[in-house]
Amino acid sequence: MSDPTVLISEADVQRRVGELAAEISRDYDGMGEITLIAVLKGAFIFLADLSRRLAVPRRIEFMALSSYEDGSTHSGAVRLVMDLRESIEGRHVLVVEDIVDTGRTLHYLIELLRTREPASVRTCALVRKKDRHEVEVAIDYLGFDIPDVWVVGYGLDYDEQHRALPYIGVVEPEGA
Ligand code: IMP
Repeated sequence: MSDPTVLISEADVQRRVGELAAEISRDYDGMGEITLIAVLKGAFIFLADLSRRLAVPRRIEFMALSSYEDGSTHSGAVRLVMDLRESIEGRHVLVVEDIVDTGRTLHYLIELLRTREPASVRTCALVRKKDRHEVEVAIDYLGFDIPDVWVVGYGLDYDEQHRALPYIGVVEPEGA
């Protein structure tokens, strides 16, 4: 596989994460503590940077879902791999996602969380592949719209590779 080419530079990612954090801090100001729920594994770096820049009280929880069995092969179904450790009843929840592709994962997650009676549920995604969307899902805070390419870096992988890159890059999946 060739090296990733830069799609969104480190500086642009950092600037946008700062803007999202400022927007979220403004919107939640005075509402008490928010619960950030990050979707593993891909959102871990985005969550780390975003949460450090928020000016509102927050707690951090993790969930893991899987819709891709290996590499970039789409299996269709969404699976809950790791659940929350605590109740979110009555809490203001902000789901932090790395990428929204078809929208299936985020849709599944929101529906699941709503059954647990939080005070509110909003969504924050770093990138979205706009043309790929199959399921209607509202993203309240969006970093970037990107074309239909396979992206890596800033937490995102291709077959567990490239997660630690500071920028968002594009790779050509093998066999494509
Ligand atoms: P969705 O359910 O189709 O929206 O897919 C969301 C999940 O697919 C993400 O959480 C990622 O794990 C994975 N995914 C989709 N596109 C990419 C990509 O370009 N790079 C890395 N992971 C991706």
